[in-house]
Amino acid sequence: MTNRHDGPIDLRSDTVTRPTPSMRRAMAEAEVGDDVFREDPTVRRLEEMAAARMGKEAALFVPTGTMGNQIAVNVWTRPGQEIILEERSHIFNYEMGTMAVFSGLLPRPLRGEDGVLTAEAIGRAIRPPVYYLTQTGLVAVENTHNMAGGTILPASEAEAIGALTRGRHLPTHLDGARLFNAAVALGRVPADLARPFDSVMFCLSKGLGAPVGSILAGPAPFIEEALRVRKRLGGGMRQAGVLAACGIVALEENVQRLAEDHARARRLAEAIAAIPGLAVDLARVQTNIVVFRVTGPGITAPEVVRRWKEEGVLALALDDTQIRAVTHYDVVGPGIRRACETLGRILEKKSAGPQAGAD
Ligand SMILES: Cc1ncc(COP(=O)(O)O)c(C=O)c1O
Repeated sequence: MTNRHDGPIDLRSDTVTRPTPSMRRAMAEAEVGDDVFREDPTVRRLEEMAAARMGKEAALFVPTGTMGNQIAVNVWTRPGQEIILEERSHIFNYEMGTMAVFSGLLPRPLRGEDGVLTAEAIGRAIRPPVYYLTQTGLVAVENTHNMAGGTILPASEAEAIGALTRGRHLPTHLDGARLFNAAVALGRVPADLARPFDSVMFCLSKGLGAPVGSILAGPAPFIEEALRVRKRLGGGMRQAGVLAACGIVALEENVQRLAEDHARARRLAEAIAAIPGLAVDLARVQTNIVVFRVTGPGITAPEVVRRWKEEGVLALALDDTQIRAVTHYDVVGPGIRRACETLGRILEKKSAGPQAGAD
C-alpha cells in the first residue's frame, strides 16, 4: 500500500487529503443549526476548542485560510495603509491582491532568509508617524513558511517581533496555516507560538486532514468584527456543523500524527540529496515540505514533474528549477519509497540518455 486510497502518490500539497473514517462518522452524527444565527452547536464547540488551543479569547470558523487571513487584514487596518510581510508569503502572492481590492492596502514586502522575517528588518520598515507618509497598518508573518519550504519561525524571533510591534502600537497577524506542524516539530503547544501575535489563522484542511475549513482566532472584540467581515465576504455558512465536526476530529486525533509526515519528508529529502542532478538544503526541511532543485543539465523541473507523474507520483514545479513535494496523511511509507525510487530512475535515465544516443 503506497496510499490510503487508490490513485497516484499525491505530493502536490497536504490539502489533498480525504476525510478519515472517524471524520466521516463525525459528519454523519454532527448536531447542527444555522450558524449565521450562531445556532450551530458543533461550530461553536470547534470555535471554543480552537480558541483554547491558540490561547486566544475567541475564534471563528471560516471556509478557507485565505478568507481567514483577509478578514484579519481587513479588521486590523484602514484603507491606504501598508502591510509589512515576507516577499514569498501567501498573503502577498497567492491571495490575488485581495488586500488591495477588498481592504485598500499596499503590501510592503521584505525578504527574509528562509522566509523568516526578523524583528530588526520589520523595525527598519515600520514608517515613522509623519502625517504625509504612508502608514504601516499591520505586520503579518507566516509559520511555517510555505514557499521557503515549510521553515519554522524561531520562537525567539516571534517574541522579538511581538515586543517590537507592541511597543509601536501595531497589530500583528500570524498566517499559521501550518502552525501545528511548527508546534509538533518544536515540541511546543501552538498557543506558545501564537502568543506574540494579536490574531492567528490556522488551517484544518491541510496536515490536520479535515476536508474544509480554517480558524481565525484573536481577542473577543476582533472576532466580533471578524464575524461581520466574514458575512460581507460571503462566508456566513448555515449547517456548517457537518464540516466543523471534522475540524474537531482533526484537533483531537491528528495533531501528533504530523510527526510522521515530518519524518517522511526527511526521508524523501535525504533520498533526493543522494540523487545526482538534484539538490536539497536539508537544513530547510524542518516540517512536511521539501523544496528541491533540479541541477543537472538537460532536464528542467517541469520535465521531472511530468515524468514523475508517468510513474504515478504527483508534485509541483515551482519554476524551471524548483520542485515542491509535501507529505501528508494519505501517503504512507511505501509511497515515499516509491517516490524516491522512481525519481532516482528518472534522473539516471536522463544522464544515461545522451551517451546511449551517441553510439
Ligand atoms: C501559508 C498559507 N497561508 C494560507 C493559505 C490559504 O489557505 P486556503 O487554501 O484554505 O485558502 C495557504 C494554502 O495553501 C498557505 O499555504
